[in-house]
Amino acid sequence: MNERKPITLHRLRAMHAAGEKLVMLTCYDATFARLEDAAGIDMLLVGDSLGMVLQGRDSTLPVTLDEVAYHTACVVRGNRSAWVIADLPFGSYQSSLAQAIDSAARLMQAGAHMVKLEGGGWTVPVVAALVERGIPVCSHLGLTPQSVHALGGFRVQGRDEAVAERLKRDALELEQAGAAMLVMELVPTAVATEVQAAMRTPVIGIGAGPGTAGQVLVLHDMLGLNTGPVPRFVRNFLAEGGSVADALRRYAAAVRDGSYPDPARHGYE
Ligand code: KIV
Repeated sequence: MNERKPITLHRLRAMHAAGEKLVMLTCYDATFARLEDAAGIDMLLVGDSLGMVLQGRDSTLPVTLDEVAYHTACVVRGNRSAWVIADLPFGSYQSSLAQAIDSAARLMQAGAHMVKLEGGGWTVPVVAALVERGIPVCSHLGLTPQSVHALGGFRVQGRDEAVAERLKRDALELEQAGAAMLVMELVPTAVATEVQAAMRTPVIGIGAGPGTAGQVLVLHDMLGLNTGPVPRFVRNFLAEGGSVADALRRYAAAVRDGSYPDPARHGYE
């Protein structure tokens, strides 16, 4: 029986302040929500990666707000104590502040505790508008998959000085606007570490090395369910033996004790 007290934003902030690593994992249905919650995963992310790992698409772009709301409601039914974050999908927050507020409200009504949106600069007023209305926001910088075509593919971001500086500036502006958390995807270890050092709020890395406050992986990647090329930052926790539940527990433990990610095996220069 999982006796953990519900994870709140207040508690996540206290964990971060105490230097505890934060553990996030994507989740798309009630069964995995129950397993991830029982394994002690702090945050379940209903990512728009569902377009790729559940729907077999080659990007996250076709995922709709209805689909994210549906999967959020499924996750919420299986979850008891984890913090649930839902992705605002492409096209659900770009047109206007009103559109972003309506879309975020939809995901909160489906049971999310926080919404996540991609990009910096133009998203600053969007973050501020949501936070002012009582909607906690996680921002997402680095490789932002909704911009995959503009970025020229799923490539490491921030290797050149100018982009690294812009990432840092964007991160600080988003924090200033009220974002309570930041996901940084596919950036050199040194860049993510520097961004985290400049911020009060937690950065959750994916392919960003060990210098961030926490880590996130796509569930299907860390269970070795993807048949395509496996990104360097992925560790297959199921291949290490035991059950799915063991793999989830091992992931949480490895993030907490700092053994995942190993910068030599999973990081980018
Ligand atoms: O959609 C998703 O799963 C994500 C993670 C890769 C962070 O945004």
